[in-house]
Amino acid sequence: MSHIRIPPGLTELLQGYTVEVLRQQPPDLVDFAVGYFTRLREARCPAEPPAAPPDAGAAGLQPEPGPAADASAGSESDDEDLDGRRGRGPSRGLLVPIPKRFDRRVSVCAETYNPDEEEEDTDPRVVHPKTDQQRCRLQEACKDILLFKNLDQEQLSQVLDAMFERTVKVDEHVIDQGDDGDNFYVIERGTYDILVTKDSQTRCVGQYDSHGSFGELALMYNTPRAATIVATSEGSLWGLDRLTFRRIILKNNAKKRKKFESFIESLPLLRSLEASERMKIVDVIGEKIYKDGDRIITQGEKADSFYIIESGEVSILIKSKTKANKDGGNQEVEIARCHKGQYFGELALVTNKPRAASAYAVGDVQCLVMDVQAFERLLGPCMDIMKRNISHYEEQLVKVFGSSLDLVDPGQ
Ligand code: CMP
Ligand code: CMP
Repeated sequence: MSHIRIPPGLTELLQGYTVEVLRQQPPDLVDFAVGYFTRLREARCPAEPPAAPPDAGAAGLQPEPGPAADASAGSESDDEDLDGRRGRGPSRGLLVPIPKRFDRRVSVCAETYNPDEEEEDTDPRVVHPKTDQQRCRLQEACKDILLFKNLDQEQLSQVLDAMFERTVKVDEHVIDQGDDGDNFYVIERGTYDILVTKDSQTRCVGQYDSHGSFGELALMYNTPRAATIVATSEGSLWGLDRLTFRRIILKNNAKKRKKFESFIESLPLLRSLEASERMKIVDVIGEKIYKDGDRIITQGEKADSFYIIESGEVSILIKSKTKANKDGGNQEVEIARCHKGQYFGELALVTNKPRAASAYAVGDVQCLVMDVQAFERLLGPCMDIMKRNISHYEEQLVKVFGSSLDLVDPGQ
C-alpha cells in the first residue's frame, strides 16, 4: 500500500474536521461533515466576485440602580429587545415577505468554546488575495470595528487576509433572520435596514449608515440569524467566514471575558442584568485608548457609540449661546467630569439627537466602547437608570449656564 500517494492537503483537511468534531461533539458526524465542508468551500469561494482562488495550502454621573420609573423601558429581556423596543429607525409594518426558510427550525449545534482546550491551531487559513487598493479600503473600513480592537497584530492580519469583498444592490438581503450564520460583515459603504420579525410582525429596529458591522451573533453563539439585513442603497461589504471568525474572534472574546469580567460585574449601571447578559456585553465591546486632550465625542455630531470609562478621567464640555457664555457660543464650558466606572455618550443614543456635549480625555484614558446597535439590544433593562440620570443633566446645565439649553429631553 506504500505506493498510494496522499494528495496534498488531505491530512490537514481531515485534521481540521477532526478538531472541530472533538471541539463541538456533534450528534451526527455525517450532518456535521456536510456543514463543515460546505462552509469551508463557501469560505474559499464567496458568492460575490471571487478575487482569486485562495491559496490552497493556506486557506458625568454615576447612576445608582433604582426602581423602574418608566414601564416602557425597564424590564425587557434580551429576546424581547429584539422586537418590542423603540428602534432608531421608523417602525414599519410588514415590509418584507418572511422568507420560507424562516419558518423551518434551524438546526444549531450547541457549541461551546473553551480556548483553554484549544492546544493547537490546525484549522486551514483562509486567504483572499487583494490588490493594494482593496487592502487600503479594507483597512479603512475595519479601523473602527470594535470586535477587532483587542486583536493582536498577527490576529488582525489573519482576519484581514481572510476577508473578501462583496458588493450589494438595493433591496438585496445580506442576511435573513432564521438562517444559519455563514459570514460576519464589515460595512465599507451603503445603508442597510435591520429588520426583526416576531409573531409574524416585521419591524425595522435600526439602520447602518456607511460604517459598522453585523452578523456576529449567529457566529458567536451558534444561533440562527437574529435579524434580516437589507441593503437600502448599493453598497460594499467585507465578509469574514465563520471558521476564521470563530477561530480568532471567539478566542479573543474568551480572553476579553477574563480581562473585563470583574470590572463589568462592578458597574452599578449593569447591576440589573443577568451575569450572562453582562458577558454578552463583554463579547461585543471594544477597548479604545485616548491621550490627554483627545476629543472622544464632538458636540453636534451624529452618535454611534456608548462609552464606559475603564481608567482615567473624561471632561464633558458644552458650547452654547447663552448669557453665561459671553463668547457667543464659541467657547466650551466644562459641565461635568466622569471617572472610572462611569459612562457617557448615552444621551444622543437615547434621544436620537446629535451629541449634546463634547468629551475630552484628561490624561490617559481607556474606555470600553459599544456600538449603538448593541446598546439598544443589550442595555434596554438599564434604560431607567440612564433616563433618571439624564434628568440630572438639566440641573447641571442650569447651574453652569442659568438655563437648560433645551439639550436634554429625558422624556423620549
Ligand atoms: P446575526 O444574528 O448573526 O445576524 C443578524 C445581525 O443583525 C445580528 O447578528 C447583529 O449583528 C445585527 N443586529 C443589529 N441589531 C440587532 C437587533 N436589534 N437584534 C438582532 N440583531 C441585530
Ligand atoms: P451625548 O449627548 O451622547 O454625548 C455627550 C455626553 O456628555 C452626553 O451624551 C452625556 O453622556 C454627557 N453629559 C454629561 N453631563 C451632561 C449634561 N449636563 N448635558 C448633556 N450631556 C451631558
